[in-house]
Amino acid sequence: MVSVSRSLLLTSLVLAACGDSQGSTAATATESTGEATGSSEASSGSEATSAPTTTEAPPTTGSTSEAGEDVRPNWHQDIAPLVTASCQSCHVSGGIAPFALMTYEEAKPWAGVMATDVAQGLMPPWHALETDECAPPLPYLHDPRLSDDQKDMFQRWADLGAPAGDPALAAPLPPPPSLDLADPTKSVTMTTPLTVDRVGNTTDFFHCLSLDPGNDAPVYVDGIQVLAGNPKIVHHVLIYVDAGADSASWPGGVKQNCGGGAGIGNAQLIGGWVPGGMPMVAPAGVTTELPAGARLILNVHYHATGGGPEEDSATGLALRWSDTAAEWSTFFTLIGAPGVGDSLNGPLMIPAGEAAHVEEYEYVVPNNIPAFADVRVWTVLNHMHKVGVDMRVWVENASGETCLLHTPKWDFNWQRSYQYDAPITESFRVRAGDRVRLRCVYNNTMSNPGVVEMLAEAGLASPVDVGLGEGTLDEMCLTGVGVAIKGSL
Ligand code: HEC
Repeated sequence: MVSVSRSLLLTSLVLAACGDSQGSTAATATESTGEATGSSEASSGSEATSAPTTTEAPPTTGSTSEAGEDVRPNWHQDIAPLVTASCQSCHVSGGIAPFALMTYEEAKPWAGVMATDVAQGLMPPWHALETDECAPPLPYLHDPRLSDDQKDMFQRWADLGAPAGDPALAAPLPPPPSLDLADPTKSVTMTTPLTVDRVGNTTDFFHCLSLDPGNDAPVYVDGIQVLAGNPKIVHHVLIYVDAGADSASWPGGVKQNCGGGAGIGNAQLIGGWVPGGMPMVAPAGVTTELPAGARLILNVHYHATGGGPEEDSATGLALRWSDTAAEWSTFFTLIGAPGVGDSLNGPLMIPAGEAAHVEEYEYVVPNNIPAFADVRVWTVLNHMHKVGVDMRVWVENASGETCLLHTPKWDFNWQRSYQYDAPITESFRVRAGDRVRLRCVYNNTMSNPGVVEMLAEAGLASPVDVGLGEGTLDEMCLTGVGVAIKGSL
């Protein structure tokens, strides 16, 4: 029997889960209103809300819907289906994006900016990129990126003056993406409402919520969905397991201003969620144990609207579990700082004023995986704070180098886990002796908008030396690698 002790394998065992999954079926349970759509327009502080005027081409004959002529591409036949499938998880009324793209009238003024943003890969948001340094072993699940032809179509549509086309010829619209976990077992939400408002320059707050899933025996989780209580202010969310229930002592289940971490020392990061993100669902046949009495901690990034106080009383999680373990069990190994592995350049320290500071880590997979054990990587989550600009994770072994995840345009506001689109048996296999490598690049100058933001929050005017920690003025270089092992541990 498999009795690999958890700690020896890849260290810290955790609840895992995560990744995403096309929540194809509507959630049936409890929180029917708790779509995972949460979140404010927040993000990288771009003031996206003022509708631009499109650069309208002089109306060519027949390019308007009134004329009813077949100018292509047009909204009804070409653009609407694309926008429904790729943009409406966020750009709906009441959604997390600052404006809706549901109708022709709503979309038309944005045609030029839409074309530019999709061409640059800014929209839809996605940060796991193939680069000269990174060819991931498998495609990513729910990769929303548009093809070159689709990007080109947005440009040609804008160039034509954004014609509506003939509604009578409208292409059938795909169903808008569902963000709900199918068949959740239980939903658990915050118990004490929080109010968020701008304080001086500060619109970003990090509050930790301790959630009690209420299982008095171990359960085996395969799906997690973040429920954003007030989508106007809930931005990204990090999910931790607090196996010892240390956070149960927090008054009202809340620890305010808990920085970038879990608010307790020994919680395990198991996933990251961003607005518009799909539920995190492990591959078929993979579950993770949630010990009896454990707590779950959400580190919620609240982004004040600037338009007065907003309350959140319903943020939480929908969970799907069963009483029996699946054939594969999964956990996250946290590598880097603060995680396992060795620093290749001493303690993390990013001097003020350095524009391309590099920190590297290496973790050697211990030589204690039994010969029969099969260990696979199925999801990867990079984590830095606001000084970070580029992060890459790869594995080196006798057969060469395999890049797991490269996030070269790091954006603190869009950190999330990236799951591979493959059955667990076809996922990347890790073996004893493999070297997992991390490289984090930081820009600690005022040319980094993240640094400007961070300093403003702290009321400082120029860059400071940044070391390892959970606070606003600290950094990390951490990757969470979701691995699954066949058989119970
Ligand atoms: C995951 C959620 C999400 C999806 C999917 C998404 N957007 Fe956005 N979009 C946002 C948010 C949030 C903003 C506000 C700016 C920011 O946070 O980066 C935004 C801003 C924009 C802007 C304004 C940017 C500016 O420069 O002012 C445009 C244009 C846009 N989106 C177009 C699109 C299009 C077109 C699609 C689909 C092809 C799309 N978005 C898909 C969330 C999303």
